[in-house]
Amino acid sequence: MMVVRINLGGSFPLLIAGIIAASISVITLANAKLDKSLIWGTYRPQVYFGIRAAEPESFLSGLVWFSPNKPDSILEARHECSEADKIDGYGWTYHDGRSLAVQEIKDTENNYLLETSWIKTDLQGTGSWAVRIQGTVLDPSIPASLSAIYYSGLESDSSSIEPTFEQENYVDGLPSKPDSSFDDIDSGRFIKAEKASSTLPGFSMRFSDTPGAKNKPANPDSIDYLEHEEEFQETRPKWHYLGLKLPQQHLWRGKEVVQSDVTSSVKAAYEAYGSKSMPFAADLLTLSDSVQPMSNFFALQRSFSGNFSFDIFYDAQDAPKATLLDGNSLGVALTASKQAYSQHLELTFPVPETDKVLKGKKGTSKTFVRELTSQIVGSIGYYFGSSIVDRSFTHDYDDIAAEPREANPQLTPPAELLTATPSRSKFPRGFYWDEGFHLAHISAWDPNLSLEVLRSWLNLIDEDGWVAREQVLGEEARSRVPPEFLTQYPTYANPPTLAMTVTDYIDRLAEKHQNIFPLEADMDTMTDPDQVNFDDSQITSSSYIEDPILARQFLMSIYPKLRQHYLWFRQTQRGQIKEWDRSARARNEAFRWRGRTRDHVLTSGLDDYPRASNPHVGELHLDLMCWMGSFAEAMVKVATALGEEDDMEEYEKHYKGIVTNVVDLHWNEEEKMFCDASVNEQDESFHVCHRGYLSIFPLTSQLLPVDSPQLGSILDMMHDKDHIWSSFGLRSLSKQDPNYGKGEDYWRGPIWVPMNYLALRALKKKYASQPGPYQAQAAKIYAELRENLVENVWKEYDRTGYTWEQYHPETGFGQRSHPFTGWTSMAAMILAELY
Ligand SMILES: *[C@@H]1O[C@H](CO)[C@@H](O)[C@H](O)[C@H]1NC(C)=O
Ligand SMILES: *[C@@H]1O[C@H](CO)[C@@H](O)[C@H](O)[C@H]1NC(C)=O
Repeated sequence: MMVVRINLGGSFPLLIAGIIAASISVITLANAKLDKSLIWGTYRPQVYFGIRAAEPESFLSGLVWFSPNKPDSILEARHECSEADKIDGYGWTYHDGRSLAVQEIKDTENNYLLETSWIKTDLQGTGSWAVRIQGTVLDPSIPASLSAIYYSGLESDSSSIEPTFEQENYVDGLPSKPDSSFDDIDSGRFIKAEKASSTLPGFSMRFSDTPGAKNKPANPDSIDYLEHEEEFQETRPKWHYLGLKLPQQHLWRGKEVVQSDVTSSVKAAYEAYGSKSMPFAADLLTLSDSVQPMSNFFALQRSFSGNFSFDIFYDAQDAPKATLLDGNSLGVALTASKQAYSQHLELTFPVPETDKVLKGKKGTSKTFVRELTSQIVGSIGYYFGSSIVDRSFTHDYDDIAAEPREANPQLTPPAELLTATPSRSKFPRGFYWDEGFHLAHISAWDPNLSLEVLRSWLNLIDEDGWVAREQVLGEEARSRVPPEFLTQYPTYANPPTLAMTVTDYIDRLAEKHQNIFPLEADMDTMTDPDQVNFDDSQITSSSYIEDPILARQFLMSIYPKLRQHYLWFRQTQRGQIKEWDRSARARNEAFRWRGRTRDHVLTSGLDDYPRASNPHVGELHLDLMCWMGSFAEAMVKVATALGEEDDMEEYEKHYKGIVTNVVDLHWNEEEKMFCDASVNEQDESFHVCHRGYLSIFPLTSQLLPVDSPQLGSILDMMHDKDHIWSSFGLRSLSKQDPNYGKGEDYWRGPIWVPMNYLALRALKKKYASQPGPYQAQAAKIYAELRENLVENVWKEYDRTGYTWEQYHPETGFGQRSHPFTGWTSMAAMILAELY
């Protein structure tokens, strides 16, 4: 007998009471009003398919499926993205971030290719949308059946979901004709609610077969079940359903809820029939066809044999009738939207014609660019809830004077975040340093969308200027995080990649409007950022670039937080110069990551990359120095754009200091390379040198001038097969380094796409394009590296169905988390040469 363990208490029961209490005081965020076309989305990237609104207590929905071929198959139901499901590749094939999302899921174990398509109409209203779920049998020589359950829940207690048969809610001509009784409907099912959330209006939902689909119910293919045939013939083709009233904070656990219900149906059958004469499994694995009063959770289920297709329509009450779809118009709209998508992609991600065309079973270069771009855009999720912060803990090496203090993790008030996520299976939440890379890609597709995400992150910066590097907001997010990574510390940083987003934005502005800076206040009468009132209907996906007034308003609105954040970095991550008799031309420019342990500098993002073997307060970290250089450069740009001259001069001074000090403090003449610095037992400063990603930072961050005497040796090392060059991209650590491939081997050899992107970007934008002694060498390295990297990521994508977290430094094989649709997707930018 099977047992389904339903753990509605969550793994942190003690926290839950606090979370519920905390969510009563929802913080209101300045300027947080989202553009309407972003209200609905596939904002639950952690499940294979789930829709919700980007607001705190929302309507949410999701898809659960399993093959109903044996009584306990409900235990193998698919729902949350998991490597354990052994899916042979899943990901968005079209996703525009606003109104279209098409995904393929190759579930070989269940013998089905699923296609989930979502489309939103009524873009400027509160949104109507539709879903098509299509199943195609992968191997027709093997019998195949699939049971699909679609659940919907209301997180806010402002209304409940009810089944309905009211005809008057529906526009004329819709194919699904509600019958007289809920139990008799074969052609469609209907549910409705008075409100979708405290801000979103009511809705009805229609469930129906796709016109023309030859859906067949899951039938027993053996005579063993003949004795039960009469009993089930009638119910078999029907929609089964379940309506429950659940605690709101558990609605996201749709799978456990339906598993529990289906399991009780199976249990009841065991009792009724005895194990000897059990009916066909698919006839038993059904929802219980019951509805509790005031349900806030509603699930509908169908079980099919062979190919199938069904549609779900979400009709917002106030949506203009013309925006409501039916099965036929949904098909037409999908085809048209895919075409429009491809056209926009050709414009934004042109694939160079001179290139060797990538080919494989998945398609060509164009497919690659389209799918990787769709996947990063489709990795965007919306999260809301408390996180855990420890404001009193300090690490041993962090503070010279500090007394060791006890851990004291506390729940924060709830906050919200719209963020792209690195991996839907392994890391479905916000990661600070990944995000700058994500946004580089997303902004090439839809600049405005990337700014919304940037703004969402900047809103999280606290009054000290700090933001946690991992954002684990709410219970659903928390359920996917190992306990040791839950607590965040306000002295810990992470590479400030969001500065890259700001720089990219201002560069785009500058390119569009020559000589426009500073953006003058009198370009518009509205200069107070609090007064900013955007007229949604006027704005297009690039209006923040087209329109200088909007640009100024946006920059003004983010500038105070950005400055606070910048100053927080400079203050809390300061490194020591004169304390250890180091000589450097700039007095203050030196940096050290806090939060280091003996074997890791998790805060640097390069986790186990080798550093000084004994942590020391006098350490100086080269990578942080370079990140701070890029941050200062971004600040110069914002201040220039806004005409903040005094601030601009301050940032410029920092930047210049970093450019000189990176050589003064980090260049080692004997090794001919850039290194970390530390302090030995005699209190003398010395260099810690490990060839790898760390040592190329002064190049990747473009801090070195093109005629820098240090440039040649970096380029030589990059291109050296015995060091970091491979036919698949740059390795994180030199093959010659004693730590190469050792320990957990995370950043000790494997190839990472984002660091290759930074290297390529620096080569393309600066060292290969501006005249200098190394220009030709840089150009050669650029061309070869780009080809190596793109071809390998493509080859592995084609072979495995996935983009991977990293690639093996000697075979090029994808390894660790997959799909890794965050920064690995940037291979598409590299192919399109967008830097
Ligand atoms: C662009 O961003 C602004 C500010 O958030 C927003 O008001 C506007 O509606 C957006 N437009 C689009 C099409 O994204
Ligand atoms: C199922 O769909 C696939 C793809 O459209 C098609 O090739 C196949 O013939 C279909 N199978 C049946 C039994 O209709």
